[in-house]
Amino acid sequence: MEQPLNPVSSRLTPIKPSASAWVSQAAKALKAQGHDVIDMGLGEPDFDTPAHIVEAAHAAAKAGQTRYPPTDGTAELKQAVVDKFKRENNLDYSSSQVIVSNGAKQVIFNALMASLEDGHEVLLCAPYFGQYKDMVLILGGKPVELPCSAADKFLVTASALNDAITSKTRWIILNAPSNPSGALYSSQQLNAIGDVLDRHPQVMVMADEIYEHIIFDDQKFVSFAAANPQLKQRTLIVNGVSKAYAMTGWRIGYGAGNQDLISAMVKVQSQISSGACSVAQAAAAAALNGPQDSVRDFRVAFERRRNLVVSRIQQIEGLTLDAPGGAFYAFIGCDHFIGASTPNGTTIKDDTQFTQYLLEDAKVAAVAGSAYGLSPFFRLSTATADDILNQAIDRIAESVAKLTINKTD
Ligand SMILES: Cc1ncc(COP(=O)(O)O)c(C=O)c1O
Repeated sequence: MEQPLNPVSSRLTPIKPSASAWVSQAAKALKAQGHDVIDMGLGEPDFDTPAHIVEAAHAAAKAGQTRYPPTDGTAELKQAVVDKFKRENNLDYSSSQVIVSNGAKQVIFNALMASLEDGHEVLLCAPYFGQYKDMVLILGGKPVELPCSAADKFLVTASALNDAITSKTRWIILNAPSNPSGALYSSQQLNAIGDVLDRHPQVMVMADEIYEHIIFDDQKFVSFAAANPQLKQRTLIVNGVSKAYAMTGWRIGYGAGNQDLISAMVKVQSQISSGACSVAQAAAAAALNGPQDSVRDFRVAFERRRNLVVSRIQQIEGLTLDAPGGAFYAFIGCDHFIGASTPNGTTIKDDTQFTQYLLEDAKVAAVAGSAYGLSPFFRLSTATADDILNQAIDRIAESVAKLTINKTD
């Protein structure tokens, strides 16, 4: 008998369905059944793209900017990126050290594809943005997870980093402010990491700074390459307009770094997607070059919501949360409820089951810490209106109060 065709490459075998994919599927299914589900799983601002940015896209389309753009990005947007790095980060790049891609995600994928050999190790500071791991696995690399505890404010320490580096380490990915923890390094902490990396010239640094503008308590953002100028040639900065300008749907991200690496990334992109959408690039240039009032307004709103979520979650017995320094997530500890029984007698064995319970009982969709490589936690997105946040937290509080704790500690 003929074997059924398997159309899928073995390259995809290591990629497991993620907890975040599960939760969004399950939330959709419940909504389809007519349940009132509050989705706190989404990683995008709930604001509209500012009007002057939309206008710039409209004007570009009307002016005929509708043909294939250059693979590495339009001259206008690349110059806007160069100017942004100088103005905001005090970093000098030439436009040949910049690439524009379809979102920051593609910048990351291009970089890994352009640089990884089979078996190369990539250090991920857990909790981390889940896609890093999957991309490394697809490309034949080996993700190496460095657990960063809540006690260490979810930041990697210089000594843990030093111990994890081997001759096969190709990259460390540092994401600050972090998705999901909001953790942010001080200049001194970045310097301490830089000192370790000075001793390991084979390691490159991917600094994912996409949440740079969503930063609280009057802290000042310091780019990794600005804190460690001696490592600038070995650092790829990943950034984009998705989060700062509420432009997730426009799909524009950019990277800056070593010219040879950038050229190789352009080569990769030329085979996959060519240049990013011309009209979206015009919009992104207007975002970077134009007034920054909405960036400030968004930041203020995110900080207010962060304060609301932190103060309310801290009042729920058994949940733990220290105020995140940036981004729009709360990464909440739920250790107290592991081993607890639900009203129908099910035992909650891990954070995935905890989020399943929240979805079933509270009708709140949240993502388990396992999706980010650190358990037992769950992530709530705080990029939601205040009244919805309050409603979601009311429901979570009611649901966890129904759990019976079986631990004797
Ligand atoms: C840490 C991090 N990096 C990169 C991205 C991807 O951003 P983009 O929309 O520009 O592809 C995200 C989006 O959720 C993110 O959280």
